[in-house]
Order: sequence, then structure tokens, then C-alpha cells
Amino acid sequence: MIRAIYPGSFDPVTFGHLDIMKRASRMVDELIVGVLNNGGKTPLFTIEERVAMLKDVTAELPNVSVQSFSGLLVDFARQTDSTVVVRGLRAISDFEYELQMAQTNRKMYPALDTMFLTTSLEYAYLSSTTVREVAYFDGDISQFIPEKVAEAVHRKMKEKRDTL
Ligand code: PNS
Repeated sequence: MIRAIYPGSFDPVTFGHLDIMKRASRMVDELIVGVLNNGGKTPLFTIEERVAMLKDVTAELPNVSVQSFSGLLVDFARQTDSTVVVRGLRAISDFEYELQMAQTNRKMYPALDTMFLTTSLEYAYLSSTTVREVAYFDGDISQFIPEKVAEAVHRKMKEKRDTL
């Protein structure tokens, strides 16, 4: 039985993330989408909002579940009995950081391997950061993220602009 974690901030979830989730879920028995609850950062969406949106967009993937975690990924892997971490690689620029993270995690928890999936070419340019940037200036984000998520992003950005 292979249980894997696909960890990330997912602020917000993009079509690139969904593509990785769909492909990874076909390779393992169970895939847990691990949403980082990072006290140090101020995300656009609260942890509860991100978990709810991820549950909604993965509802049709039977072996995919969504959980939040805080602290070290290796501790979350131990708690959930997971032995694989899934990460997407978009470009060579992602590689250095991802390699460092994978090696550090494996040093701390040798039973944990990281499996890299190359992002589908159509999403190779996509990131949550650029989606937030485009949305902040009220650009069209419908081709980057699921419709319901896009509506939520636009609502958040409007709130943000209105409080300035
Ligand atoms: O979507 P992101 O922001 O690229 O995801 C990064 C994430 C959540 C995978 C990474 O920051 C993480 O695992 N954070 C938890 C703390 C930890 O275990 N760090 C790795 C030690 S090198």
C-alpha cells in the first residue's frame, strides 16, 4: 500500500496543481493533499478556505483526500504513515530548491522518498503567485484556475483593494 503526500501552500490551487494530483493519484493507492498552515506567512486564503476549495476540486478523485498540516513535512508523513512525497517540477529553476528539500527530508526521515512529476507543458509557466498578481489587477484568471476558485480569488482581491 503506497500512501503519498502532495504538499503545498495552494494559495490558490491552480490547474497545474490539479494536473499533478490527477496523475499522481493514478500512481499510488492513496494521495493526501497536504496544505501547509504556515503561521509565518499571510496567505490570501485562510487554511480552512484552502482546504475547503481543495476538497471541492478533488471531489471526483476517489483516492485523494485533503488535510492541513503545520510544522515539518516529515512529521506529517510519519503521522499519516506516508512514504512518498509528490512534487511538480516546472522548470530547471525549481530544481535546486526541490532537490535541497527532498534531500533534507530524506535525511530526517530515510523512509520518505520524493517523486517528481514534470508539469504538463501547458501549465509549465503557471504559479499561484502569478495568479494572485493577475487577479490583484483584475485580470482574467479563468484559464489558470477552476471557475469557483477564480470567483473566490476575485472576491478576496476586491476585499483587499476596498480596504486599502
Ligand atoms: O507550494 P509550496 O509553497 O511550494 O510548498 C512548499 C512546502 C509546503 C512543500 C514546503 O515549504 C514544506 O514542506 N514546508 C513544511 C516545513 C518543512 O518540512 N520544510 C522542509 C524542510 S527542508
